[in-house]
Amino acid sequence: ASLQSRNTFGVAATAPVLVEVSDASALPALFADPEFGDRLALVLGGGSNLLFAGNPDGVVLALTGKRVAHLDEATTNGHTIVRADAGVEWHDFVMRTLRHGFAGLENLALIPGTVGAAPIQNIGAYGAEVREFIHAVDAFEPATGQMHRFDADGCAFAYRDSLFKQQPDRYIVTAVEFALPRAPALKLDYAGIREELAHMGVASPTPLHVADAVIAIRRRKLPDPAVVGNAGSFFKNPIVPAVQAEALKAQHEALPLFRGSSEATRKLSAAWLIDQCGWKGHRDGDAGVAASHALVLVNHGQATGAQLLALARRIAASVQERFGVAIEPEPRVIGAAW
Ligand code: EPU
Repeated sequence: ASLQSRNTFGVAATAPVLVEVSDASALPALFADPEFGDRLALVLGGGSNLLFAGNPDGVVLALTGKRVAHLDEATTNGHTIVRADAGVEWHDFVMRTLRHGFAGLENLALIPGTVGAAPIQNIGAYGAEVREFIHAVDAFEPATGQMHRFDADGCAFAYRDSLFKQQPDRYIVTAVEFALPRAPALKLDYAGIREELAHMGVASPTPLHVADAVIAIRRRKLPDPAVVGNAGSFFKNPIVPAVQAEALKAQHEALPLFRGSSEATRKLSAAWLIDQCGWKGHRDGDAGVAASHALVLVNHGQATGAQLLALARRIAASVQERFGVAIEPEPRVIGAAW
């Protein structure tokens, strides 16, 4: 089966077997067949966070269930539990919760992908991370045939990371439960949101206004995968020891610095490092770097996954050489080692 229309880079790839499952309760029976269970190569969501540098070598599974339920009886601390199947489109889900009067997910509007993929890399943008709103994750473990339920602590969330990303394909996320507040606690401090709201003429913003502002900023900065193939940020922002960050800052006054995961670390801007190395707008054939954002690799048409990966390696090598900082891909790379 062709996977070209199932990855937002739009690169050619094929799966030996592609299986779509609409009801997760069918998974135990499906995986009870050892022929099938042992051959799982990839669980595919929206295809917006992976790069096919080669073909997956076994079964590719897509969960297509799209149920959403408000478990109002589970209301705790003014939060309502909203449950969604893994196959629900993330952005549709965000807008639906906001229209129902639930707050929380507004800063995460317009992120491509599915609900099931959201906890895997703990999606984040504009000062928010999905971990703050996750109540529980239901996942199936093919190796044991068991369903598991993880609370937020059990997911081991960190910046663009989780238990599910640490152990790829060990668990198949089938549904996610979110704890969403009715009372908004708006996060407006991330660069650009306040300015965008002012530009929109909004003085007392609602969560829906914030979503509209985030949508406008993203549309301006990030290329639309429907127009030019890409997978959002191709590199994670590197987390380095604070001493190393301070030494770099002494050499490069304009270097943006963010809080790290602890006092002893700082997060650097991969976009800034890459931009300084002159890559923005660069093009090797159809593999390129977006002109609007240095962190986004783009497929201008016929680029292969291998060509995009080769470009990514050259970019990382130049950042390493110039700044002594290692940057790593954010999307999952299939069919090649980083
Ligand atoms: N910058 C440059 N050159 C550029 C772009 C940005 O020097 O071409 C500088 C900016 O001046 C700014 C800094 O880099 O100081 C950060 O840029 P931005 O605010 O765009 O955020 P980012 O750190 O590059 C992260 C996420 C994005 C998310 C934005 C907004 C990661 C890997 N990426 O990008 O997530 O949308 O913040 O919150 O953490 C994604 O994960 O796919 C993604 C798009």
